[in-house]
Amino acid sequence: MKKIEAIIQPGRFGEVRAALEQAGYPGITVTEVKGHGKQKGLRQNWLGRAFKIDVLPKLKLEIVAADLEAEKIVKAVLGGACTGQPGDGKIFVYSIERAYRISSEEEGDGVVS
Ligand SMILES: Nc1ncnc2c1ncn2[C@@H]1O[C@H](COP(=O)(O)OP(=O)(O)OP(=O)(O)O)[C@@H](O)[C@H]1O
Ligand SMILES: [Mg+2]
Repeated sequence: MKKIEAIIQPGRFGEVRAALEQAGYPGITVTEVKGHGKQKGLRQNWLGRAFKIDVLPKLKLEIVAADLEAEKIVKAVLGGACTGQPGDGKIFVYSIERAYRISSEEEGDGVVS
C-alpha cells in the first residue's frame, strides 16, 4: 500500500476531486494547512510598501491505496491540480506498512479497495 499526500491550492480541490472520481479512489482525508515552498510565501506590494506573507493556505489530501492503484491516483491529482504556475503544490508518496478497517477488524489491501 501507498499513501499519496498532496498539498494543493484550495481553489483546485473541485478539479482534483473530479479527476479522482474518474480514476477511482478508496477514500480521502482533507486537511486545511498552511505552508510555503521555495518562494517562501508571497511578496506583494500594496500602496508602495512590500508585504511578506510567510505561509499561505493550502489543502492537504491523503489517500491510501493499493500499490497498483497509486500511480493513477498520482496522475489524477497532477491533472486536477496543475495550472503550471508556482505554488501549484507537491505530491509525496509513502509506503504504508499496515491498514485496518476498524468496523470489521479487517487488515490488508482489502481495507483500501
Ligand atoms: N519540501 C517541502 N516539505 C514539506 N512541504 C512542502 C515542501 N515544499 C512545499 N511544501 C508544501 O507545499 C505547498 C506548495 O508548495 P509550492 O508548490 O509552492 O512548492 P515550490 O517548491 O515552491 O514549487 P513552485 O516553484 O511550483 O511554487 C507549500 O505551501 C507547503 O505547504
Ligand atoms: Mg512555490
